Amino acid sequence: MKKIVAIFGSPRADGNSDILLNHAIQGAVSDGVEVQKIVVRDLHIAPCNSCGGCFEKGVCVIRDDMQQLYSFFVEADGIIIASPIYFMGVSAQLKALIDRCQAFWARKYILHLPVREGARTANGFFIATAARSSGEELFTGAIKTMKAFFHVLDTKYVGDLLCCGLEEKGMVSTKRHLLEKAFDAGKQLLIW
Ligand SMILES: Cc1cc2nc3c(=O)[nH]c(=O)nc-3n(C[C@H](O)[C@H](O)[C@H](O)COP(=O)(O)O)c2cc1C
Repeated sequence: MKKIVAIFGSPRADGNSDILLNHAIQGAVSDGVEVQKIVVRDLHIAPCNSCGGCFEKGVCVIRDDMQQLYSFFVEADGIIIASPIYFMGVSAQLKALIDRCQAFWARKYILHLPVREGARTANGFFIATAARSSGEELFTGAIKTMKAFFHVLDTKYVGDLLCCGLEEKGMVSTKRHLLEKAFDAGKQLLIW
């Protein structure tokens, strides 16, 4: 069975990115895909401390909840990440997880090891929510971070759903077209 990892990056439960991610998950499940949802705010993930420990074996030496996630990324056929925009970037909780994937960077570029057996790649999709009604560059910083993250994980950035004008908790649930887009993204992720 194909597997998707769905990473939920907001500290706010039942908020806009949570609702959109859940619709994407429903889309994937409707197509018979197994989905593992990772609720980052419930995990203890220390930020990368740039110790260089991963340069030895391509494995992070910090012992915390991040250790259980590495194998999910390796096994995944698809990755969907949802985050609110915080100061033009992703949430701090999600950024800590991303920075800890420096271990994959070390594996690839220092140790010349593949991320996945047989150089298998995955597909990646990014969902972002923001309060500002519109605005140039609102998502640019987060997209760049996400592209770098997917690149390190040998994961193709197949698309994104960038939603502005969402200030209050849960207000996206009234925006049917966005919910449908999220559902379709989950359904299509592995066939892009
Ligand atoms: C610390 C913090 C920083 C934020 N920074 C921005 C920002 O730079 N631009 C913006 O449009 N919205 C910003 N917002 C608003 C959130 O992105 C917005 O409310 C989003 O829909 C929250 O998603 P959630 O409900 O999934 O947590 C910020 C909110 C917080 C709490």
